[in-house]
Amino acid sequence: MNLLTIADLNKEEIDDLIGRAGALKERHRKGIPHTPLRGKTLGMIFEKSSTRTRVSFEVAMHQLGGSSIFISGKDSQIGRGEPIKDTSRVMSRYVDAIVIRTFGHEIIEEYARYSSVPVINGLTDAHHPCQVLADVLTVVEKKGGYEGLKFCWIGDGNNMANSWIEAAMRLGFDLTLACPRGYAPDNVFLKRAKAEGAARVRVTEDIAGAAKDADVLNTDVWASMGQEEESAKRRLAFAGYQINSEVLKLAKKDAVVLHCLPAHRGEEITDEVIEGANSAVWDEAENRLHIQKAILEWLLVDGGR
Ligand code: CP
Ligand code: NVA
Repeated sequence: MNLLTIADLNKEEIDDLIGRAGALKERHRKGIPHTPLRGKTLGMIFEKSSTRTRVSFEVAMHQLGGSSIFISGKDSQIGRGEPIKDTSRVMSRYVDAIVIRTFGHEIIEEYARYSSVPVINGLTDAHHPCQVLADVLTVVEKKGGYEGLKFCWIGDGNNMANSWIEAAMRLGFDLTLACPRGYAPDNVFLKRAKAEGAARVRVTEDIAGAAKDADVLNTDVWASMGQEEESAKRRLAFAGYQINSEVLKLAKKDAVVLHCLPAHRGEEITDEVIEGANSAVWDEAENRLHIQKAILEWLLVDGGR
């Protein structure tokens, strides 16, 4: 079993992971040790920068009694062109599971095809499933559940947006994405959500319409990792696609504001909103740790599906 996308999971599995993460969080808060991964090692191959994903997985492994090895693409033979299929088979002989952060989603798919240990997506250009699971956990904590809530995404139709569409598809909540023309999520995800899910997933250019009465407001950077050269062009295209106090006023009074971080204050979100009373971004970041523990336990103790 791998975790490459949210769509790899069914509703029951997502609910179980969220519930388990909450229980592990509580146990950690009470200082009760829980070390089912003693003797296990997590490999981590990162070809892009990371703070949260790297640290939360490393601390998760440590708290669960195991250890982790971090390898950056450029410091390993991967950076010198060793084929993915060779790296995958070799790593499978050393570690018990692996987290990959890379560019094209096809790279992690190829890695997974050759891996004999579980592969976890730590972000690709197309998906960021572990982040969205932590986000759903955050919403459940703040709102008591996700059912019947109105989710709003403002900004780029990127990896985060795709994983949110898949979450809506699996969990059945209402998601409206406000994206500038030319930056909507890939139709593949929208069509699939429509065909397979009970959810209402809509894309619009109308920020106010999307934010109106929203329970959850969510955004992400205008230019993702790997798109640095497009930054100037994107700043123009995304102007106005921002969560600010005006947009927040349109949402429900107790709306939860999410951002996976890192944030660019003054671009996709204002300093006032990210530091404001509705912002849940620090709990959201903390929840990366608790959801990673649930994912690792599920894959390495329960054996996934
Ligand atoms: N949100 C997130 O994935 O952060 P990092 O890039 O710091 O891992
Ligand atoms: N969309 C962003 C998310 C960073 C966690 C990126 O891919 O850079």
